[in-house]
Amino acid sequence: MSYLETARRQAADLLSKEHVRILALETSCDETAAAVIENGRRILSNVVFSQIDLHELYGGVVPEIASRAHMEACDRVIDEALARAGMILDDADALAVTYGPGLVGALLTGVNCMKGLAFAAGKPLIPVNHIEGHVSANYLTHPDLEPPFLCLVVSGGHSHLVEVLDYGVYRLVGQTVDDAAGEAFDKAARVLGLPYPGGPRIDVLAEEGNPHYLQLPKPRLEGRYDVSFSGVKTAFLNAVHGMEQRGESLPKADLAASFRFAVCDQLAEKTALLLRDRKMEGKQPVMALAGGVSANRELRRRMEHMCEELEIPLYLPRLDLCTDNGAMIGSAAYYQLMKGNIADLSLNAVPALRFVQ
Ligand code: KG4
Ligand code: ZN
Repeated sequence: MSYLETARRQAADLLSKEHVRILALETSCDETAAAVIENGRRILSNVVFSQIDLHELYGGVVPEIASRAHMEACDRVIDEALARAGMILDDADALAVTYGPGLVGALLTGVNCMKGLAFAAGKPLIPVNHIEGHVSANYLTHPDLEPPFLCLVVSGGHSHLVEVLDYGVYRLVGQTVDDAAGEAFDKAARVLGLPYPGGPRIDVLAEEGNPHYLQLPKPRLEGRYDVSFSGVKTAFLNAVHGMEQRGESLPKADLAASFRFAVCDQLAEKTALLLRDRKMEGKQPVMALAGGVSANRELRRRMEHMCEELEIPLYLPRLDLCTDNGAMIGSAAYYQLMKGNIADLSLNAVPALRFVQ
């Protein structure tokens, strides 16, 4: 029997199994992460090896360095995830891997590693979309959350407002017309001289600053639920460079707070607009957040306040599950497995993989 036939049979048997344990690997950017997840909801282990130290010197992720570091770390991180779950490879019911979107070399490292393991162990391999993983971090945080719900996905490469219609089924409602929120945070941090990744550093600094110190422009957009961060970013860079040219010292906390306010204000406003529209249509929406930027304190506060006012349930991912990790991949994988979505050994990395129609 071919590998795929064996894997298909095993995957079919898993549909009726009470406890399905998936070993998942994530290598799409600068975290080598592995986890073991039971039934898409329970974390048996979650190991994240961050490469930040390796990239900090360059002010951003260097793809070649990332691929090499993933290659060196994969085996160790997988062994550790299995050991912490009290398992050996053979105890895993299926394997899962992120195959896009992300850096091609980084993704390929993970995809090849898991294809090799799946073939050697004769286990089904589940291909996972990284962004779908971010959304699924909510299933690990909130046992009661089930689709349908609305989700604001804000990461280093994405800013989407989506409707989660079912597990693994999404409809795009709004998106950034230019930069992603995380990308904008990282750029702003860089001009303030903060090390990579700048988003979390701006967030900490902003807690001490005045959010109204600098007025940043609000874009006018055609799409009702779209956002744009390029104008805000340029205005911020010009303001900072102007101050530097005049020899003024930078009030970094006030600048960080102003930038954070401008980004979160747009995200919160567009989300509020969507939620109000849905209520007007007689619907009772449920809201969730996902992606690295969902760790942002101001964004979480704004969303909490807004949803409380609108009497809408809000689900926020656990802080350690907002940024890249293997657990979220293992959760998304479970629901893909339940739909019979498994890969064959021709699985390739798809750097620009989409997750919404
Ligand atoms: O989701 P993620 O870990 O990776 C991608 O899939 O892109 O997101 C990383 C992004 C980075 O741009 C980082 O600066 C940003 O999320 N980020 C934050 C915070 N924590 C992470 N941005 C603002 N505030 C934070 N607390
Ligand atoms: Zn991510």
